[in-house]
Amino acid sequence: MSAQPDLTPAFRPMELADFPRIMTVEREVYPYPWTPGNFTDSIRAGYYCRIMEYGGEMTGYGVLAMGAGEAHLLNLSVASAWQRQGLGNLLLRHFIGHARGSGTAVLLLEVRPSNVPARRLYAAAGFRQVGLRKGYYPAMAGREDALVLELPL
Ligand SMILES: CC(C)(COP(=O)(O)OP(=O)(O)OC[C@H]1O[C@@H](n2cnc3c(N)ncnc32)[C@H](O)[C@@H]1OP(=O)(O)O)[C@@H](O)C(=O)NCCC(=O)NCCS
Repeated sequence: MSAQPDLTPAFRPMELADFPRIMTVEREVYPYPWTPGNFTDSIRAGYYCRIMEYGGEMTGYGVLAMGAGEAHLLNLSVASAWQRQGLGNLLLRHFIGHARGSGTAVLLLEVRPSNVPARRLYAAAGFRQVGLRKGYYPAMAGREDALVLELPL
């Protein structure tokens, strides 16, 4: 069990000015980070891109795409120094709440089989595997599959 947070994070829209800090976090938490272009494209596309802050410091962020009755969680990240304090769970719940409040029927995401922390987080939130995308991710030894997870809303 991670410690329950005595923190109440704030959520706000992602801005271009956030990119330097975002890219620092991307590089520290992912072997194959998103590029600034991925975030720019997401903002331009009108995706729900949110920063999670505590005490004025960015602790995490995520990107949610919505359309055709489905929501797709494209990015969910907590800065290393802030992990294991319950913030990933709060960030995930924020996106679930937004998707549910928008009348979306289902929330989908992809996750690496090797990403045990994320898989445990999603399983605890009620996600179930509904598919497998072969060779979806780049990996040190060739490619890694993606598990497709779904949460009915
Ligand atoms: C996945 C991630 C968002 C979790 O954030 P977090 O703030 O550490 O998560 P929480 O503290 O809210 O933990 C919630 C649950 O996640 C699971 N979990 C989180 N970190 C874990 C770890 N290192 N090992 C095992 N389980 C872990 C646990 O089930 C935990 O519940 P518990 O504390 O009751 O055991 C974070 O590890 C992260 O940003 N990882 C890198 C980016 C990433 O992989 N994103 C997901 C892409 S699909």
